[in-house]
Amino acid sequence: MSWLMSCYTVLFPALIWLIFRVSKKILRWPNDSDHESTARIPPGNRGLPLIGETFQFMAAVNSSNGFYDFVKVRRLRYGNCFKTNIFGETHVFASSTESAKVVLNNDLGRFTKRYIKSIAEVLGDQSLLCASPQQHKLIRNRLTNLFSTTSIAVFVKQFDELVVSALSRWEHKGTVIILDEALKITFKAMCKMLMSLEREDQLDVMQKDIGLVCEAMLGFPLRFPWTRFYKGLQARKRFMEAVGKMIRERRTRGLQAYPEDFLQHLLMEDEHKSCEEEGLSLSDEQIKDNILTMIIAGQDTTASAITWMVKHLDENQEVLDILKAEQLSLAEKSSSKPFLKLEDLNDMPYASKVVKESLRMASIVPWFPRLALEDCEIHGYKMKKGWNVNIDARSLHLDPTVYNDPDKFIPSRFSDESKANCFLAFGQGRRTCLGMNLARAMMLVFLHRLVTTYRWKVLDSDPSVEKWTLFARLKSGCPVHVTRIREDIPPP
Ligand code: HEM
Repeated sequence: MSWLMSCYTVLFPALIWLIFRVSKKILRWPNDSDHESTARIPPGNRGLPLIGETFQFMAAVNSSNGFYDFVKVRRLRYGNCFKTNIFGETHVFASSTESAKVVLNNDLGRFTKRYIKSIAEVLGDQSLLCASPQQHKLIRNRLTNLFSTTSIAVFVKQFDELVVSALSRWEHKGTVIILDEALKITFKAMCKMLMSLEREDQLDVMQKDIGLVCEAMLGFPLRFPWTRFYKGLQARKRFMEAVGKMIRERRTRGLQAYPEDFLQHLLMEDEHKSCEEEGLSLSDEQIKDNILTMIIAGQDTTASAITWMVKHLDENQEVLDILKAEQLSLAEKSSSKPFLKLEDLNDMPYASKVVKESLRMASIVPWFPRLALEDCEIHGYKMKKGWNVNIDARSLHLDPTVYNDPDKFIPSRFSDESKANCFLAFGQGRRTCLGMNLARAMMLVFLHRLVTTYRWKVLDSDPSVEKWTLFARLKSGCPVHVTRIREDIPPP
C-alpha cells in the first residue's frame, strides 16, 4: 500500500507535468517570453549534413556572376529572409529595412560583428573588423580621431595631386583600364595618408602582398604552400614586418623627424600617454593590424566603386551631360587654384548624387555579417543564439518596393527619396564605415578630374565580375578610350 502511495505521489505530478509540456508544444501555450509571437523560423535549405551548402557557396565565389549570386538565387526562391548552412554554421540573410534597423543599430545588444576565424587570422585579431566588442570600442575611438575634417582636407589635396598626375599620362596611352588605374591611385593615396609611403618599389611589393591577403580571406583555411590561405598568411607576415620596421625606425630617429600621417599620430599618442592612460593607446600589434585593415577596407572598395561609376555614366548620357555642366562650371570658378579643396566638394550637389547612386547600384559590400548573442525575433522571423545573421544590403538596394526602378541609374532619386535604413552602402550603427567621408571625397575628386579633362568610351560593356575578390569588381576592369576635351585648359 505504501509502495502504491509513493508511486502515486511521484508519478502523478510527473504525468501532469508531461501532459502540460506536450500540450503546450502542440497548442503553443503562451509563456512569458513568447506570448503572441507569430514569428517563424526562416525558410531555406540547410543542404547536406555538416557540409550544408558550402560547395554551392564556393562555386559562386568561383563564378563570373560573383559570390553574391549564391544569395541572389536564394533570395528569389525564399523571400527577404532565408537561412542556409555554410562551413558548418547557420547563416540567415535578411533584406528588409526593419531587419537592417534592428540588427545594425543593435540597440538591445543582441548582435555582434562576426567574421570567420580564418579571416581574423589573415587580418589580425586586433583588426577593427575582428576584435572583441570591448577592444573594438577602444580601437574605433582611437582611429576615429584620425578622420578629422583637417586630415580629410589634407587628404583631398594629396588625392587630387595624384589623380591629376595619373590622368596626365592617360592621353598618351589612349586606352586605359579604369579599375587598374583606380586601384593604383587609391593604394598610393592610402599609403601616403597612413604612413607616408611613396617609394614606387616599396608600393609595388606591398600592393601585391595586400592582393594575396585579400584572396586568402575568401580561401579555405588550408596551410599548404600552394594554397591561397597559406600565401595570404605569408604576405601578411611580410606586411607586418615592413610596418614594424617603419615603427622601429621612427622611434630610433625620433618621431619629430617624420611627416604627419596616421602612423605618426598613433605613435605620438603612445609616447605622450600618462600612467592613467596606459592601456588606452594602441599597442604596436593593434597599430599594425589596423593599418592593414584600413588599406584593405579602403583601397579595393573605393577603386571598385569608381569603376562602376564610370561604367554607369558611360551608359547614361543624359546623367553625364548634367554632371559635366556642373563640373565644368566649378572648374571655371576654381581655375586659379591648382588643386581642389575640401570646400569645393560641397559645391558638387549633382556629383554627390551620382556617387550615391553608383554606390547603391554597386553595393560594394553586399552584406554585413553579425552573430546573434541570444534567441530573438527580427521582422517576424525567429533567430537562434549562435546563428550568423547577415544583412543583405544589396537586395535592399535593388528592392522595387524601396526604390522606384531600382535597376535604373537615376542620381536625382536622392533629391527626394530619403527613407531611413535603406541606403546602406557604408553600413549603419556603431560599425558604420570609418572611411565613409574619405571614400566619398575620393570618388568626387576622381569624377571632377575625369569629366573635366576627358571624353571617354567604354570598350567592353561585359558586366561579369571578377572571381575570388572580396568586393564586386568588374572582370573587364572597364577599359576606356579617352580623348582630351577643352583644349583651352592646359594639360594638368
Ligand atoms: C566606396 C568605398 C567604401 C565602401 C563602400 C565601404 C563600405 C563599408 C561598410 C558597408 C562597412 C560596414 C560593414 C559592416 O557593418 O559590417 C565598412 C566598415 C569599415 N570601413 Fe569602409 N567602405 C569604403 C571605404 C573605406 C575607406 C576609404 C576606409 C578607410 C580607411 C574604410 C574603412 C573602414 C573600416 C575601418 C571599417 C570597419 C568599421 C568598424 O567595424 O567599426 N572604408 N565600410
